[in-house]
Amino acid sequence: MNEVKFFFNQTGGERIPLEMHKAKMVQRLHLLPVDERQAAIENAGFNTFLLKNRDVFLDMLTDSGVNAMSDEQYAALLRADDSYAGSETFYRLEAELSKMFGKKYFLPAHQGRACEHILAKTLVKPGQAVIMNFHFTTTKAHITLLGGKVIELLTDEGLKVESDIAFKGDMDIEKLKSTVQALGKENIAFIRVEAGTNLIGGQPVSVKNMREVSQICKANGITSVFDASLLSDNLYFIKTREQGYENTEISDITREIASLFDIVYFSARKLGCVRGGGILTSNDELHIAMRELVTLYEGFLTYGGMSVKEMEALAVGLREALDFNVIEQTPIFVEALTNELRKFGVPTVLPAGGLGCHIDAKRFLEHIPQSEYPAGALAAAIYLVGGIRGMERGTLSEQRNDDGSEHFAEMELVRLALPKRVFTLSHIKFVADRVAWLYRNRHLIGGLEFVDEPSILRFFFGRLRAKNDWHIRLAEAFKRDFGESL
Ligand code: F0G
Repeated sequence: MNEVKFFFNQTGGERIPLEMHKAKMVQRLHLLPVDERQAAIENAGFNTFLLKNRDVFLDMLTDSGVNAMSDEQYAALLRADDSYAGSETFYRLEAELSKMFGKKYFLPAHQGRACEHILAKTLVKPGQAVIMNFHFTTTKAHITLLGGKVIELLTDEGLKVESDIAFKGDMDIEKLKSTVQALGKENIAFIRVEAGTNLIGGQPVSVKNMREVSQICKANGITSVFDASLLSDNLYFIKTREQGYENTEISDITREIASLFDIVYFSARKLGCVRGGGILTSNDELHIAMRELVTLYEGFLTYGGMSVKEMEALAVGLREALDFNVIEQTPIFVEALTNELRKFGVPTVLPAGGLGCHIDAKRFLEHIPQSEYPAGALAAAIYLVGGIRGMERGTLSEQRNDDGSEHFAEMELVRLALPKRVFTLSHIKFVADRVAWLYRNRHLIGGLEFVDEPSILRFFFGRLRAKNDWHIRLAEAFKRDFGESL
């Protein structure tokens, strides 16, 4: 049955999403008093990546590696066949992946960026371009480190924060044709489509668009690559939004998509709810070129840096990722959080996508210029008012231009991720309430400046400070309104 799970409460007719799972094991949470939160964010250099988990109440940094596994996945851990070479677990996982994606070869890797490392090393030569709907941070870093450059060809509509377009992750096909023609195929390392386009708010790509991209790749002899890390949310949107797919099985949509690309890779930290990754292809030459790098950088070909226990759980997680009743859960709760925030006027990405709710920091903090990292400041402020850890997805997450100047992000977002099956509706209501208070008090939030700026992936461990100590005034205002309440 493919019914989306909502119920309407009797008093207000409110449409409420239903969790179709229950907790079997729990982890205790703590909410520190606001003074301690203020000290914690200061000690973390106003970077939510540097907060200690013990200081965090709701960890909405990411879904990566922190999705809740199912009971069936836990049961599978015990079946794992632990051996360096030839593990039975590998062959079970390989069979599952081959059924799911229809590709001949599977190369395991320890996570998504390890796949990107291998792909970039195999395919990118200095000076070449990689064309994609939109970049992901680690993808771009691997390509530029090898002297390649990234060209993003999202449609103009995809970059609008608020829109009613169903597939904002689609590539602009006309721009793609002219770019391929202008560059020439020898200057294009590969063309990449990212499912559930992460940095523009978890926005899906339509099968129609993927088919058109695939045709252009084939016609020009260019390698096509599909990043399936966020495939499960994307599959939900295809099934519920794309004409002609209402009655197609999720497994059939998956195979159709995979058939359009020479290479499919994924982070199993997202797809499959474990920790690992993998590359799939049916191309003999690509397989041979990549497998040598797998053994060098990841591990022997039957584990590739993953623990066999996680591989066994991945085989189960992949089966579950093809079940509509499982994959609908994240998008319906992302939509619930987005709707709740919008009731209070908080600007967010629309339509609500997958992965998490994305707050528009540019509009939230119109008084802070991009050079002072509004999304970084907002992520720090959200932690301060609720112990809620989100992630900056704006200029801080960008790389500087070659000349050292700042590369201002197209969108300044704070992502509040909803790892699969982890949070409840009361958590969502709490987040919306605290962010709504922050929105009313947004004039108190100021900008950030770097104290220590790493040269690669600076958002991970860069340290910043609050300009004019705005965080102190924000904490004072919070205490005036909330008193002894946390
Ligand atoms: N591709 C996409 C679309 C991703 O979202 C990620 C990771 C990766 C590749 C890299 O995979 O983390 O296993 O190395 N996204 C995480 C996030 C980090 O928080 O959105 P990885």
